[in-house]
Amino acid sequence: MTSIAIVTGASSGLGEELVRRLDAGAFGRLDQIWVVARSAARLDELAATCATPVRTFALDLTEAASFDVIERALAERDDVRVALLVNNAGFGTFGEFADMPAGDNASMARLLMLAPVELTYRALPRMAAGSRVLNVASVAAFVPQPGLATYSASKRFVLDFSRALDEELGPVDIHVTALCPKFMRTAFLDHAGADDVAAGMARLTGFEDVGRVAERGLAAARAGRALCIPSPDMRAFYLAAKLLPYPLVARAERALLSVLGQPPRNA
Ligand SMILES: NC(=O)c1ccc[n+]([C@@H]2O[C@H](COP(=O)([O-])OP(=O)(O)OC[C@H]3O[C@@H](n4cnc5c(N)ncnc54)[C@H](OP(=O)(O)O)[C@@H]3O)[C@@H](O)[C@H]2O)c1
Repeated sequence: MTSIAIVTGASSGLGEELVRRLDAGAFGRLDQIWVVARSAARLDELAATCATPVRTFALDLTEAASFDVIERALAERDDVRVALLVNNAGFGTFGEFADMPAGDNASMARLLMLAPVELTYRALPRMAAGSRVLNVASVAAFVPQPGLATYSASKRFVLDFSRALDEELGPVDIHVTALCPKFMRTAFLDHAGADDVAAGMARLTGFEDVGRVAERGLAAARAGRALCIPSPDMRAFYLAAKLLPYPLVARAERALLSVLGQPPRNA
């Protein structure tokens, strides 16, 4: 049996960190790690520094044909078992929905929602008892976020999709974990646009360490936990968002953003 992990968005940030930890044995023995992102050069660099054999897939996961490539690779050998699938690739554009660059909203929706659905569906036949799916959501999933509407709604989808799937697959000991980090200092913010909005939100939540998020996420996946919110303050926020009516949470968030120097939105 060839035991593999597949990690999307492995060319930088959290994905790269996850691969390094997998390479160091954080998920037990793996025969191969398959890494996916658009940047072939960065994937090759990563592969060259791993002790575990790494297979690179330079693919754009907003394109439907990319999923066929991975499915075909999975079908090459009968003995491949997907021990772990990490759906991590993502980007988020901040700002008013109507002002976003053309195509950003649709790309975000495709990458954040469709890609995990497609990859999970295609990897499932290669999974067995003990296999895990780790889906990277975000604390942005907890309440609708004006200024980040498509991103936060897409991450909500990831959260709900993961939890429902975990219930469905739990009886055969395949578990699905939704990982909900707050801001991390990765390339994510470089591509986020609308610096004032992003900076205001980052001031509101603060940052957490990408290494710690990776460690917690992998531990939760190994343990078969459906939800992982690494930051304690965000666990409190999650609870508040479940208990309080949305307009109240939205008002509190606007007030906090305003105190922290960002102009109130939708006031
Ligand atoms: N950083 C944060 O503050 C934060 C907070 C909460 C959740 N998250 C989530 O964490 C995940 C990882 O983000 P990060 O912080 O590590 O950001 P990052 O450093 O920018 O990494 C994003 C990864 O996604 C890949 N990617 C982007 N578009 C892609 C596409 N069309 N096809 C294939 N791969 C693509 C990028 O590789 P290429 O550019 O080479 O394709 C890169 O490897 C994302 O899902 C993000 O939404 C981030």
